[in-house]
Amino acid sequence: MIEGTDIRHLMGRSLELPCGAELKNRLVKSAMSDSLADGEGNPTEAQIRLYERWAKGGVALSIIGEVQGDPRFPEKPGNLVFSADSDLLTLQALARRASVEGAHIWPQLGHAGALSHSAISRPTGPSALQIGDFACAGMSVSDVEQLPQLYARAAMLAKEVGFTGVQIHAGHGFLLSQFLSPLFNRRNDQYGGSIEARARIVVEVIDRVRRAVGPRFPVGIKINSSDQLEGGLTEADALELVAMLDRTSVDLIEVSGGTYFPGAKACTDNVASGPYFVDFSARAKQVTCIPLQATGGFKTGDQVGAALASRAVDAVGLARTMVLNPALANDWLSGQAAAPAFPRFETVPPGGITAWYTMLLTALANGNESRFEVDLSSAIRLYEERDEMRSANWRERFGQA
Ligand SMILES: Cc1cc2nc3c(=O)[nH]c(=O)nc-3n(C[C@H](O)[C@H](O)[C@H](O)COP(=O)(O)O)c2cc1C
Repeated sequence: MIEGTDIRHLMGRSLELPCGAELKNRLVKSAMSDSLADGEGNPTEAQIRLYERWAKGGVALSIIGEVQGDPRFPEKPGNLVFSADSDLLTLQALARRASVEGAHIWPQLGHAGALSHSAISRPTGPSALQIGDFACAGMSVSDVEQLPQLYARAAMLAKEVGFTGVQIHAGHGFLLSQFLSPLFNRRNDQYGGSIEARARIVVEVIDRVRRAVGPRFPVGIKINSSDQLEGGLTEADALELVAMLDRTSVDLIEVSGGTYFPGAKACTDNVASGPYFVDFSARAKQVTCIPLQATGGFKTGDQVGAALASRAVDAVGLARTMVLNPALANDWLSGQAAAPAFPRFETVPPGGITAWYTMLLTALANGNESRFEVDLSSAIRLYEERDEMRSANWRERFGQA
C-alpha cells in the first residue's frame, strides 16, 4: 500500500516528452468524442466550456476525441473537422481556453474508415468487407497514399490555431486500427500481411505529421494492446508495433484496447474492475523508451499511484472518471482523495454506457450536471436524436455521402 503523500508526489511530478515539451503532472483526460461540435465541424461555446473545465480542474493534458481531417469519414456528426475552411477563430478560442493553467490540449486526429457514421458517409476501410450486416468499401493504393498528407494538414492546422500537440488515433477499431487488424486488413500489397506491413501506414502518417509540425511539437498516438476480438490484433502484434513506434518520433504512446466493431467489446462498455492495461504497458516498457500512458478502468487515486509506482506507465489516462468529476486532478493532487461514485446499471444495452457518458458530457458543458438524471435507454434515444439533427447539418455543409 502506497502512502497518500507518495501517491500525490507520483501524480504531481512533471513529465518531459521526447520533443522537449513538458506535462505538468501525470494525469491525462483521455479522448472522448463529446459530440458537441455544431454539426458543421466547428466548436460550440458549450464545447469550449467543457475543455476549459478540465483545464481548470488540473489535468496535465486533455485530448479532444475524434477530430476529422476528412469530413467524408467521421465517427459522428458532432465531430470537429480541421480543414482549409474551418472556423479558425472558434478553434483558436477552444485551444486558448482549453489550455489555461498550463494544461496541454491535443486534438485526436481520427478517420473512422469502415466505422464511419453511415448516415453521413460511405464507410471505407483498408479492404472491402461484408461480415453479417456489416459492409464497407475498400481503399485503393492511391487512397492509402493520401492519408499521411491528410493527417499532416490537420496537424499543421492544429498547431497554427494554438493547440499544444496532437494525438494520432490508431486504436478502437477506427481507420489506422483497422489497418493494424488482420480482421479488417485483408490487403496483399505493401500495406497488408505481416504486422510490419499493416503498421506501414501508421509509421508513414507519424513521419509526415512530424515533418509538418517540426521537432518540438508533441505528437502522441493511441493504440490497442489488442482488439479483444477473434482474428483481430493480438498482444504479440501490439508489442511488435510498440517496438516499431520506438523507432519513430512519437512523444507519448497511449495504450488502450477493444473496438467499436458491431457486437465487439468496446473499452467504454467494460464494467469489469480495472485498471485494464497496466500489465501490457509493463511489457511494452521492455521494448520502448517512449513515455507510455495506460488508459482504461482507473477509478481511484490508489490505482493511479500503484500504476505509476510500478514504473509500467509514465502517465495515466482517465475518461469516465473525469466525466464524473472534471476537477478530479486538482482534488487528487491536493489530497482530497475521494474517488467518484460510479453509477451502477442493472442491464446495459449495447452502446448504452457511451451514450450515457456522452449526455453527461453535454450536461457538464452546460454546467447542469447536478440535475442529470437519465437512464441508459433515454440516453441512447437523446444521443441518437441529436445525431440525426446534426447529420442533416453535416449533409448540408459537406454534401451527400
Ligand atoms: C463518451 C465516451 C467517448 C469516447 N470517445 C473516444 C474517442 O473519441 N477516442 C478515443 O480514443 N477513445 C474514446 N473513448 C474511450 C476513452 O478514451 C477510454 O479509452 C475508455 O473510456 C476507457 O477509459 P476509462 O475507463 O477511464 O473510461 C470514449 C469514452 C467515452 C466514455
